[in-house]
Amino acid sequence: MIENGEFDFENRIVAPQVIAQDDDIDYSLRPKTLSEYIGQDKVKENMQIYIEAAKKRGEPLDHVLLYGPPGLGKTTLSAIIAHEMGVNIRVTSGPAIEKPGDLAALLTNLQNGDVLFIDEIHRLSRSIEEVLYPALEDFAIDIIIGKGPAARSIRFDLPRFTLIGATTRSGQLSAPLRDRFGVIQRLELYSADDLAEIISRSAVILGVAIDKDGAYELASRSRGTPRIANRFLKRVRDYADVMGDGRITRDIAKIALDRMEVDDLGLDSLDKRMLLTIINGYGGGPVGLDTLASAIGEEAVTLEDVCEPFLMQLGFLARTPRGRCATDLAYKHLGIARPNRPEDGQTSLL
Ligand code: ADE
Repeated sequence: MIENGEFDFENRIVAPQVIAQDDDIDYSLRPKTLSEYIGQDKVKENMQIYIEAAKKRGEPLDHVLLYGPPGLGKTTLSAIIAHEMGVNIRVTSGPAIEKPGDLAALLTNLQNGDVLFIDEIHRLSRSIEEVLYPALEDFAIDIIIGKGPAARSIRFDLPRFTLIGATTRSGQLSAPLRDRFGVIQRLELYSADDLAEIISRSAVILGVAIDKDGAYELASRSRGTPRIANRFLKRVRDYADVMGDGRITRDIAKIALDRMEVDDLGLDSLDKRMLLTIINGYGGGPVGLDTLASAIGEEAVTLEDVCEPFLMQLGFLARTPRGRCATDLAYKHLGIARPNRPEDGQTSLL
């Protein structure tokens, strides 16, 4: 974890991003149908209706925007949507589409009804977005042939496809792009009950023995994120194999996660550093996100996308117009006494 004396945040055990060695395992654990997909009940119910209606009418599904914190299953859900519609899915990402020609090549290779999945869609450049608009609205693209005064625009018809865009930051999507999605769904952090069910399902697929309490212990420390829960399952299995009889119990899970420096609520050292910096460096806040990020030496987007949703769900962090504040619950969890703040006229406003 420590490289060149620095903490390797990309590869930290609770990183919600895909870590290279998890790729294969992640794939085999992914549910293939809506009925296998656990949690996100509202999104599932809505998508079921939209899929059924589109199929009944013999039309492709309207364009879908999925947003929410990383690791919650946006890619998985998109593959499920394509599967339920009985169509192919092409997967790409915003940063991978560099030139209008890259997008044109993707679009012209689709078949009627196919799903084009663009991850991190907020990172598409404006010039690519311009190509995308007529594709989404009229199923056509305008390609410029030639240069200078001889340049001509030629319109190509495209198959009727469904774009599924995924983003962790819907606020960064331009309004014209956002407006072109007929379906917009927000994925929420999962409850511990749902995560325990996901862990138990994954354990069956992987042939790992885990009891109910063990699954719940992993679930309650997985910060609402299935990708982290499945990663814990794999790592804790190693402890169970070496230190026990291969069965993951609550005790084994506790030992393993403590050793991985994931605390009993799922906070890791970055979460703690964020809270401790607010508390020790800025009197509990408010402090602006950029100031905080540079004090910690981490990118503001990582704090915003990865730490904040979870810390806010726990009630440890408040976002106010003047900046981020640590709450009384955060002080309590970290075992720090909150000093009286004379300006509040009371112990604390939070
Ligand atoms: N594996 C990862 N995410 C899942 C989910 N939402 N349901 C079932 N299995 C999963």
